[in-house]
Amino acid sequence: MRPTLTAGPTVDKTGGISASSTDPARSAGERPPTGRARVLSGITPSGPLTLGNYLGALRRFVSEQDRADCFFFIADLHALTTPQDPRRLRELALQTAALYVASGLDPQRSTVFLQSQVPAHVELAYLLESTAYVGELGRMIQFKQKGGQPGTRASLFTYPCLMAADILLYQASSVPVGGDQDQHVELARDLAVRFNREYGVTFVVPTLARAALAARVADLADPAAKMSKSAPDSAPGVIRMLDPEPVIARKIARAVTDSDGEVRYDPAAKPGVSNLLDIVAFITDESPDVVTAGVSTYRELKAECTGRVVDVLAPIQRRYAELQADPAALLDVLAFGAERARTEAAPVLARAKAAMGLPPLARA
Ligand code: AMP
Ligand code: TRP
Repeated sequence: MRPTLTAGPTVDKTGGISASSTDPARSAGERPPTGRARVLSGITPSGPLTLGNYLGALRRFVSEQDRADCFFFIADLHALTTPQDPRRLRELALQTAALYVASGLDPQRSTVFLQSQVPAHVELAYLLESTAYVGELGRMIQFKQKGGQPGTRASLFTYPCLMAADILLYQASSVPVGGDQDQHVELARDLAVRFNREYGVTFVVPTLARAALAARVADLADPAAKMSKSAPDSAPGVIRMLDPEPVIARKIARAVTDSDGEVRYDPAAKPGVSNLLDIVAFITDESPDVVTAGVSTYRELKAECTGRVVDVLAPIQRRYAELQADPAALLDVLAFGAERARTEAAPVLARAKAAMGLPPLARA
C-alpha cells in the first residue's frame, strides 16, 4: 500500500485558513503537499476506447506513475451530459476501468476510481458553479459545438465546473489532457485563483501540461477528423482497443490514402498516409521520417502499421480478458481506489465549504 499522503492545509475551528495554506509555493500551485508532483486525469466513458485514447492518453498515464502521485479516474458523471443508455454506460464505465488496468495502470501505485463513487466531486462542483460566471461557461468551445440547443442538458453547460472539481479536489499540479480540453483546464485554474482570492487560499492552482507533442491519431476513413471513441460502433476508421486482429487488419487495409503512391510524411498534402506513419512512429517512438525510410509502398506501410498496432494491443487485450474472468476483483480494485480518493478529497471539500461560510457538521 502506498504511504498515507500528507493532508493539505486545514481549516481552523473558526473557519479560517491555517498558516500552512498560505505557503506561497502552495498558492502558486507549484508543489502539492507530498512534495511529489500530483498528476490527475480522466476519460469520459462515452464509447469504447480507441487506439487514439491509448496512444494519446493511457500510455502517457502509465508513464507518469513512476515520477508522480497519480489519480486516474473514469469520468462516468461527465458521460451524463449527453443521452446514454444506462446499461451501456455501466458496461462502458467498467470496460474503461478494466482497460486502464490492462494498459498498465497499477492500482497500488495510482489511485484508479470511478468518479461517481466519490460524492465529493458533485459537492465541490456545486460550490464552483457558485463561483463561475455564465459568461465564461458560455464561451467554452465544446459547449458551443455540442450544446446551445433548447434540449441541451443543463449539465453540459456546467460540466467544466465538475471537471474543475475533479482537478481541485486532489490538489493536482499537472493535468495531462488532449488539446480540446485545454480550455477546461484553464477554467479550472481561473476558478481556483478566484476562489483563493475571494475566500482565502484553499486550492492548488494546476498548471496546464500542454499536449504539444502528444500523439494525435486521426480517423482512418476521414483523416481530417480525430479518431473518436464516441463515433458509431460501426465507424470504419476507428480502431478500438478491444478490436480483434482481423478487424484491425481490415480497418487499416481500408484506410484512406491518396493516389500518388509515394510514401512521404506530409500531413497537409497527404493526411491519410501521414496518419499511418504517425501511428507507427508513436508506437515505436521514432520520427515519422525514420518510419518512411523503412517502407516503400502503401501496402508495406499498411502491413507495418497493422503489425505494430496488433503488437501493442494484443498484450493489453490478454490482460483485459484475464480481468474479465474475475469481475468481482475489478470491483474490489475500484472500491479500493474510491476509498482512497474519498480520503484524499474529504479535507479539501471541507476546507472549501468552510471557506464559503457553510457551517461544519459538528465541533472538530
Ligand atoms: P476523448 O476520447 O476525446 O474523451 O479523450 C480522452 C483522452 O484521450 C484525452 O486525453 C485525449 O487527448 C485522448 N485522445 C482521444 N482521442 C484521441 C486521438 N484520436 N488521438 C490522440 N489522443 C486522443
Ligand atoms: N473532460 C475530459 C474529456 O472529455 C475528461 C475529464 C473529466 C477530465 N474530468 C477531468 C480530464 C479532469 C482531466 C481532468 O476528455
